[in-house]
Amino acid sequence: MANACYYSDENLLSSSLLSKNLKVRIYKTVTLPVVLYGCETRTLTLREEQRIRVFENKVLRKIFGAKRDEVTGEWRKLHNTKLHALCSSPDIIRNIKSRRLRWAGHVARMGESRNAYRVLVGRLEGKRPLGRPRRRWEDNIKMDLRAVGYDGGLREATELAKNLSEDSVATCAYGMRHNSFQNSRSEFRVYCRNFFQPTIRKGIAQSFLFIAPRLSNFFGLRIIPSKVADFFRQKTKESMAYRQQNNIRRNDYLQYLLQVKKSIAAENDLNNTATPWYKKFTDEDVAAHALTFFTEGYETCAVSLSMLLYYLACNRDVQIKLIQEVDFIIKKHNYRLNLDVIEDMQYLDMVVKESLRMNAPVPFITRLCTKRFELHTNGGDLTIQKGTPMVIPVLALHNDPKFFPHPKTFDPERFNKSSAAQRPRCTYLPFGAGPRTCLGSRYALALIKCCMVLVLLQYYIKKCRYTPRTTTAVPTSFIYTPKEKLWIEFVKRDKK
Ligand code: HEM
Repeated sequence: MANACYYSDENLLSSSLLSKNLKVRIYKTVTLPVVLYGCETRTLTLREEQRIRVFENKVLRKIFGAKRDEVTGEWRKLHNTKLHALCSSPDIIRNIKSRRLRWAGHVARMGESRNAYRVLVGRLEGKRPLGRPRRRWEDNIKMDLRAVGYDGGLREATELAKNLSEDSVATCAYGMRHNSFQNSRSEFRVYCRNFFQPTIRKGIAQSFLFIAPRLSNFFGLRIIPSKVADFFRQKTKESMAYRQQNNIRRNDYLQYLLQVKKSIAAENDLNNTATPWYKKFTDEDVAAHALTFFTEGYETCAVSLSMLLYYLACNRDVQIKLIQEVDFIIKKHNYRLNLDVIEDMQYLDMVVKESLRMNAPVPFITRLCTKRFELHTNGGDLTIQKGTPMVIPVLALHNDPKFFPHPKTFDPERFNKSSAAQRPRCTYLPFGAGPRTCLGSRYALALIKCCMVLVLLQYYIKKCRYTPRTTTAVPTSFIYTPKEKLWIEFVKRDKK
């Protein structure tokens, strides 16, 4: 069929009157749909996959032709990867696989009463010919899943956690569906990584901002590079415009900001210059809030999650106890996962707290003394004058043996009710405290815990020979980021 379609369009594809772009569009709209029609239900052997690839390369070669070598002057065929780059489409087999996986989700939810389910996944009855059974659709799905790492294997925890954090920020703050696990070269990802890449220059700018904010303003030092801020501002505006034009509503942070903007606009005249700035809420404000979500939430969540994975891999007893709790509670709630179920998991809460104690992502917090204060301690009396900048060393408090005996040991029992009640207040501050406490703590904890439950329902996490024994912080980063690569092994639970 595909060949028939191709030969009927061959004259067009080789015509010198049409541009290459137009030819690519003809291929994508006329020939490709014929090849891909119903491909999600097809079972392909390696040979068949190869034939489809050859077919696609043949069509693309017809469109782009040969290229003259600049040095030798000889005509050369274009390389396959070059062909795909020119028509900016992924390999056709990747396309088929991704459609098949998407369709697998529907089939899994269909149930045995549906014909599609019975044909694709149901048990075979009757006699079959001698010899090795043909590969079934189900086998193809399993192979594809294994290829994308569903079956476990060695993984770098920081990379995994960053991908997850990226996806969740993209969805919640920008209303974008962004699959960073598959789309490793997207613009969104490049800007995310660029922003948090610790450099000496950023380290100096951040230090100045903390120590001498006025001086840093004077020198125009920026923590967020203007290119990155512009990109995220642009993304928010695009999402907002798209939602407003198409009347789309979603249950996310961006929607909430749009509602705030609408209700403020109803109360105050935004175009009136007499209205003070704090009574206005413009598109710029929406973009700024979305950017805050990203700047405060992306790296902190990613680091917390990666360190938690690392600690679980290194502490098998804790992991086994946690898996038992997760299995028990999830069964009790009929295999549903929501915030109430997560709240029910006491040990999970203790484990997450202990991980945030050992490596608080924000290692210190700052305050400005607003009135004269006298501090009476065992070590002596101290007067703090109004206007004094203060640094509260969170990480040092968390590692103080006075409050947390044997601080280098990962022991979630420190956070059981009786032990926690004995500790003085404000000795455990992963999210800060008081009126300026972290606004995203509930979101962060929900994300980390949900992710852990989903992972532990399917995998054991193990140390491997590349797992570092200890971790050290990158000195130029203000968020605790481990220098080492946190390699860990995921083992599918039903395999044991
Ligand atoms: C595990 C993840 C996170 C950790 C460990 C963390 C930690 C912190 C800490 C220590 C502070 C300073 C609090 C203080 O000075 O008392 C803070 C502030 C803040 N965090 Fe987080 N955070 C996390 C995730 C998030 C997320 C996901 C968001 C956004 C959705 C967020 C939004 C904020 C904001 C807006 C502030 C400033 C609050 C203010 O100054 O009034 N954080 N965070």
